[in-house]
Amino acid sequence: MDWDHGLHILEQLSTSDIVIAPWLYWQGDTERLSRHQTQMLTRIAQRLTRQHWRQTRATNEWPEYSVTPQLAQRAVYETLTSTAAYLTNLRLGTLVITDEMVVVTERLFDTFIRENSFSSFLTAYLLISTFENLHAVAHYGTVQEEVFVRGSLHRPWIGDAQTNGVIGSDGELLEGQVGTAMDLRDELTALLANGLLSVNSGTPIGVELTQSGRQTFEALDELLHKSRIFHLRAGLMRASEFTNLEDYDAIMEKLGPKSHELRRTLIEWTGIRPGMKVLELGCGTGILTFEDGLASAVGPSGSITAIDPAPGMLARADHKRCRLKAENVQFIQARAESLPFSDNEFDAVIGCAFLHFTDADAVLKEAARVAKPGAVFGTNFPLSFGNHPAFFREWFAPIMSGLPAGGSNDILPDHERIPRIAASVFNDAVFELSKVPIDYSDPEAAVRFFVKVANVFEQPMSALPWQARRQMEHELVNRGLAVREQYGAENLFDFHEFQWIRGIIK
Ligand SMILES: C[S@@+](CC[C@H](N)C(=O)[O-])C[C@H]1O[C@@H](n2cnc3c(N)ncnc32)[C@H](O)[C@@H]1O
Repeated sequence: MDWDHGLHILEQLSTSDIVIAPWLYWQGDTERLSRHQTQMLTRIAQRLTRQHWRQTRATNEWPEYSVTPQLAQRAVYETLTSTAAYLTNLRLGTLVITDEMVVVTERLFDTFIRENSFSSFLTAYLLISTFENLHAVAHYGTVQEEVFVRGSLHRPWIGDAQTNGVIGSDGELLEGQVGTAMDLRDELTALLANGLLSVNSGTPIGVELTQSGRQTFEALDELLHKSRIFHLRAGLMRASEFTNLEDYDAIMEKLGPKSHELRRTLIEWTGIRPGMKVLELGCGTGILTFEDGLASAVGPSGSITAIDPAPGMLARADHKRCRLKAENVQFIQARAESLPFSDNEFDAVIGCAFLHFTDADAVLKEAARVAKPGAVFGTNFPLSFGNHPAFFREWFAPIMSGLPAGGSNDILPDHERIPRIAASVFNDAVFELSKVPIDYSDPEAAVRFFVKVANVFEQPMSALPWQARRQMEHELVNRGLAVREQYGAENLFDFHEFQWIRGIIK
């Protein structure tokens, strides 16, 4: 395998709108595709495979890895479906894929193939799916062949997709195969032929990683990290989870009994005054904007432009705006790393509890670009998990390492990371720390928010194949319930350290 070439292709993919992340549409318990759309996507996958597969017959990233037409069609189908789910979720803020987004997806995919070639697409798909295949076997040690082929542990969406006519080995559509479910037999055969997996004759019988399989798995892991594909996927997943979090406001009340105070203090501490033209980053459902007083602080002579990447959160915020007839407030879908505003527009930039989800370096630079020189910037965010009470350590032990001190296993910054970046962007930067109470007495809500939606344990969670990840979420809820039983609900309180930054834009 030419890893540099692989890296280049994955980087191309990561800057396109094409997404190979099937769990965006397959949640196991939610139907996001109608039968009609499954058929539309299947037909598109067949057209593209018929059109392009022949010329890429020789795309063998591993010597014996022949890309069968079935595999090519599955690759296209999975990619089209995840891209359609991603576009629907991010552009429309809904879960159920629309026909319009299927059409947009087809156009985008055609463009990607024109600009990068079908063979590049297949290479990217193979790199990602081979990682997932090896990952599952690495995690479980031995996987029964039938379980592997059905993808139950790592790619359960595979069996869902009906091929509705498969492309034969000569590239022709075999109508007789209508309704055949897809499986991973061809991938298993290729992995065995290439010596990445071997069949274990002991007990339990199944497939295992060979030494070369382990080395390939580690190399792929590094490649996917380096190309930022993993990070990008986690971001997509987070935006989609936030979008779907209908009860964000209620969950915040439950988990953060002092969260209103936290936001009100931020407005005051940042120095927001009447008449200011304010940019709010990571506004979510608009609690800082409305309930906690930002709109009142700027008054009718000021204005607020608030951004967030999750359309569902913005829709809820906009609902509040309409109800309150707040004409000097607007909500715009954007990521804080690339703001759709011109230079020197704002008197102040503010945002509560969002910076830890972003590439903070890019965000602070963007904030400095769109704010006027001399404008004020203020934010607060949670710091990495550190010293926590016994109940917390017991509960989250499976995904935390090195507790109690240091050895953090989460995405949250340490004390020094943001101040280091801020020093080059701001004058007179001030940093403070505070302890914010978190109420963990509802384990379902805590695991759902911190582990699933905010995904603060992104690293250890993404080190798990699909099924193990779901099991871990389940196990954490059960551990939380056991801990509550043992310690009493009234004792499941902890304090999380927040860092505050205020600075004057240079
Ligand atoms: C914990 S919520 C905070 C929402 C709101 N500021 C509040 O105080 O209730 C974090 C928000 O950050 C948003 N977010 C995630 N990634 C972001 C990014 N790259 N740029 C801006 N906001 C982002 C999420 O969509 C979510 O709405």
